[in-house]
Amino acid sequence: MVEKYIFGSPFETEAVTAEMEAAEFTGKVICGEILLENGFCYRCQMDDTDVIYGLGEANRGINKRGYKYVSNCTDDPHHTEEKTSLYGAHNFIIISGKKHVGLFFDYPANLCFDIGYTRQDMLTVSCERADLYLYVITGESAYDVAKQFRKIIGKSYIAPKYAFGYGQSRWGYKTHEDIETVVRGYRDNRIPIDMVYMDIDYMQDYKDFTVNPERFPDFPQFVQKMKAKQIHLIPIIDAGVKIEEGYDIYEEGVEKGYFCKREDGSDFVAAVWPGWTHFPDVLNPDARAWFGGKYKILTDVGIDGFWNDMNEPAIFYSEEGIKALNQAIVDYVREFDSNQGNIKADSDTSEDVMNNAKAVPWEVRSCIDKLQNSPEDYERFYHNVKGKKVRHDFVHNLYGFNMTRAAGEALQKIAPDKKMLLFSRSSYIGMHRYGGIWTGDNQSWWSHILLNLKMMPSLNMCGFLYTGADLGGFGSDTTRDLVLRWLALGVFTPLMRNHTALGTREQECYQFEHVEDFRHVIGVRYRLIPYLYSEYLKAVENDAMYFRPLGFDYPDDRRAVETEDQLMLGNEVMIAPVYTQNVSGRTVYLPEEMKFVKFMPDGKIYEEILNRGTHYIEVALNEVPLFIRKGKCIPVVDVAENVDAIDMDTVRYLGYDGAEYEIME
Ligand code: GLC
Repeated sequence: MVEKYIFGSPFETEAVTAEMEAAEFTGKVICGEILLENGFCYRCQMDDTDVIYGLGEANRGINKRGYKYVSNCTDDPHHTEEKTSLYGAHNFIIISGKKHVGLFFDYPANLCFDIGYTRQDMLTVSCERADLYLYVITGESAYDVAKQFRKIIGKSYIAPKYAFGYGQSRWGYKTHEDIETVVRGYRDNRIPIDMVYMDIDYMQDYKDFTVNPERFPDFPQFVQKMKAKQIHLIPIIDAGVKIEEGYDIYEEGVEKGYFCKREDGSDFVAAVWPGWTHFPDVLNPDARAWFGGKYKILTDVGIDGFWNDMNEPAIFYSEEGIKALNQAIVDYVREFDSNQGNIKADSDTSEDVMNNAKAVPWEVRSCIDKLQNSPEDYERFYHNVKGKKVRHDFVHNLYGFNMTRAAGEALQKIAPDKKMLLFSRSSYIGMHRYGGIWTGDNQSWWSHILLNLKMMPSLNMCGFLYTGADLGGFGSDTTRDLVLRWLALGVFTPLMRNHTALGTREQECYQFEHVEDFRHVIGVRYRLIPYLYSEYLKAVENDAMYFRPLGFDYPDDRRAVETEDQLMLGNEVMIAPVYTQNVSGRTVYLPEEMKFVKFMPDGKIYEEILNRGTHYIEVALNEVPLFIRKGKCIPVVDVAENVDAIDMDTVRYLGYDGAEYEIME
C-alpha cells in the first residue's frame, strides 16, 4: 500500500508519475513521528535487527545503518568513507525488519538522513523547509516495497542492446587518430568492444555540440567509418555553455532568456571546463526543449549515444566567488601588515598584495578551496519555473535530472523508434525514466570495487537500472590485477566501461601484459549478453531489480541479509567477485544449494554443485565466477567481437538440467 502526504507547498519534482490522492496527516505516519516546528523532521525508532536499504548512489554499505548521508548533488571525486554526499540524490529508504516500510521524501534540496549515527536506535530525516511530499509504502517484504515504489515512479529507461557491449574511455583522447589507435588496439588484439567514449577534448574549446575541426577534419565521415567497424562513438555533453561572442548556442540562449539568472535578471556566470559559462535553465520546459534540440546536431551525423556530465551543476568558481576571494586576500594582508608590519599592503588588488607575500597564507588557501561548488553560489541563481522565479538551492538536486530529461525528451522526438544510449553523472529519482547513470569519479582502489558493487542494488531500488562505475578506476594509477578483477564485476553491470582521468597510467586493456586474459574476461561478457540484456528488460518491464541484496531473496536468513559482497542478479544468478589484491580466491556464502560456474581462460566452463553454506572458491585473475540458483539455467553464446556479431544460433543453456529460460530482445 502506498500513502501520500503533503507538507506545505512542495515543488513539483515530477519524480512520481502515479496519480494518487493525498492522505490526511494526523500527526503520525507508520512507525514514526513527524515534527514540524523547525523545518521538517521524520523520526523513527529502529529495532536492533532493522536493516535500512536505499539511498541509491550513496557511500558505504548496502545496509545504510550507522552513518549519516546528505542528499546534495556534489561534484566530489574523493569518495572516501566519511563523505556524506555524492553526485546523485535518491531520497528513498526501506526500513526492513518486523515490518517493511518504504519512505520517499520528495524534496529537491538538502535532505539529511541520520541513520543511527547520532543514536544507534534512531532514524531521523530532516530538512530546512517543510515543503515536500512524503510517500509511505508498506509491503510484505523489502523487495515488495521496492517494487511498489518503482511502480509509482514510472518505468525505467531502456538502453539499446549495443550499450551492453564493452566501452573504452579516457579523458585525454583528443583526435580521430587517438580514437583509431584505441579501436585498433582492441580489434588487433581481438578484445571485444562496441563503444569508444569521447571526453571533452573532441569539442572546440569545450563548447557543447561543437567538434574541433582540426582534430576531426571530417567528423560525419569519421562517425561512419567507426560505424563500419561496429564502433559507436559516445560524446560527452557538459552542463555549462561557454560564453563566447559568435557561438550560436550561447547567443541563442542569451537572446531567448534560457540561461539561469541572477536575482537582478542578468545571466549567472560560472567557470567550468570552457572557462566562463552560463547554465541552461533546464527546469524551464521551453529552455529544456531548446537545449535538448541541440543533441540533433550530433545525431544528424550518426551519433547514437551521449553521457551528460558536470550537471550537479559543478562550479569551479563564480564571478562573485572570485571577487570575494580578492577581497579576502586584501583583508588578510592588510591585517597581517598592521599586526606585523612586514608586508606592504598599499595596493588594492590581490595580485599586487600576493606579489609581496612570501607564500599563500592558509587563510587565503581555504578561501580558494571554498570557491568550488560553493553553497553561496547555488543561492545566487534562479530558475524560471512556469513564470515563477525559483532559487537554485531550493531545487538543486533536480538539475542533472532535467539536463538528462532535456536530452531524453529530445532524443525520443528525433528518433522515436530508436533506442539511444544516455546516461548522466548527477541525478534525482525521476531521471531513471530518461537515462542511466555512472557513479562518477572513483579511484583505482580495491575498496572501490566493493563500493561499486554495493551501490548497484541501491540504485536499482530507485529505478536506475542502466548503471556502472568507471572500471579500473578513474583517479590515480591503476594496476593490471585491479583492472582484471574490476572487469570481472563489470561483466555483470549494464554499463561496462573502462574510464580513467587525464594524467593517469594508460588503462586500455591492450596496454597490459598477457592481453589474452583481458580478451577472455571481456569475452565472457559477450557470452552472457543475451542473458544479461534479457534480465535487464525483464526488470524494466516488471518494475523489478536487476541487482538485489541477498536479503531481498533470503529475508529469513540473517547471514544472507548481512552479506554485502555478493549480489543476486536477475532471477537465476548470484555473483561474488574478488575484490582484494594478491589473493587466489574468496569466501562465498550460499543461502541455498547453487551451481558454481567459472568461465575458464581456455573457453571451457567449470561447473560444480555446492551446498548451502560457506565455501572458499578459487578464482584466478583471468577467470569469471558466477552461481546459478537451484533449478535454474541461463543462456550462453559463443564469444563475439561486438554485440551485432553475437550468433544466437550458438545458444546453449548452463545450469540445472530440465530448467527453462526465455530470452527477451
Ligand atoms: C569529470 C567526469 C569525468 C571526465 C572529466 C573530464 O570529472 O566525471 O568522467 O573524464 O570530467 O570531462
